[in-house]
Amino acid sequence: MLHRPWRDRRGHLVPIKALALALLTIPAFLLALDAAQGALGPRPWNQAIHVTGLWAERLILVTLALTPLRVVLDWPRLVFIRRISGIGALAYVALHLVLYIIDLKFNWAQILWETFTRLYLIIGVLAALGLLALGISSTDSMTQRLGLHWKRLHRLSYPIAVLTGVHYLLQTKANIGGPALAFGVLFWLLLWHLLTEKHARHALALLALGACAALFVAAAEAAWYGLATGLNWRRVLAANLDQFEYIRPSGEGFLIALAVVALALLRRYGPAALNRVPWRLSSRPWRVLSR
Ligand code: HEM
Repeated sequence: MLHRPWRDRRGHLVPIKALALALLTIPAFLLALDAAQGALGPRPWNQAIHVTGLWAERLILVTLALTPLRVVLDWPRLVFIRRISGIGALAYVALHLVLYIIDLKFNWAQILWETFTRLYLIIGVLAALGLLALGISSTDSMTQRLGLHWKRLHRLSYPIAVLTGVHYLLQTKANIGGPALAFGVLFWLLLWHLLTEKHARHALALLALGACAALFVAAAEAAWYGLATGLNWRRVLAANLDQFEYIRPSGEGFLIALAVVALALLRRYGPAALNRVPWRLSSRPWRVLSR
């Protein structure tokens, strides 16, 4: 139900959906606030394009991570926010595109010329169209109408996420830390889908995936700097071995994986109170609280 996304099909309020919706509006609200205060720097429209692009990218990854997190954290209600999160990503992409058009002062000739001659924009457009197709096919009626085809169509979400990562990487001028981390998260998620059911929640298996993703990020970063910029790739790799002073994207990726494992262990073995915090609340919270 797109018109009342905080409710379920029977019209009951679902707190986790309402919370997700509120959280999704925060980056747009902060961006509007910065814009109103003139805090977006000398090229405000371009800065706003960057902020919305970053949030679109983050939300795409969060949406993809919800299925693994639902299993790993044993948190079934996360399924309720998958659609909201995906639509949120689409909304930030739409804003990103509108801001780009405004930045070019509605000069359609220039917009079309740039969009079809710059590789990173061609890739961005393909990703946006793919995301739009997934969004349109996510309404209740379309899900029912598409049946089994829906699942097949939604397998495109990973290739689309790869396209967004490439778009992000190609427009980056110097430091590729952000896109490298995004690819690391994507790599972790892909590897997770290869795990057997028995290992999908196993702490050691999850840590091993974290280590593999960190190695992948370090290797990809070194390869990019070596091939695309001519920098000494050995020095980039070496920087990944000593991360105590300056943490690299591979270290950040590993810390994210570590945090997920720590949360999963807390959920499994932590104090029972953790099971009663808001994400466990049903649409009638008093029922849970009176247990
Ligand atoms: C799913 C679709 C898309 C996603 C997830 C996405 C995401 C991003 C990200 C993460 C950045 C870099 C932000 C940063 O480094 O701070 C970016 C930059 C940018 N994107 Fe997109 N984007 C998408 C589609 C598009 C489309 C369709 C266009 C326009 C046709 C576009 C135009 C731009 C521009 C102009 C920049 C800034 C480049 C610069 O300042 O040099 N993007 N985008």
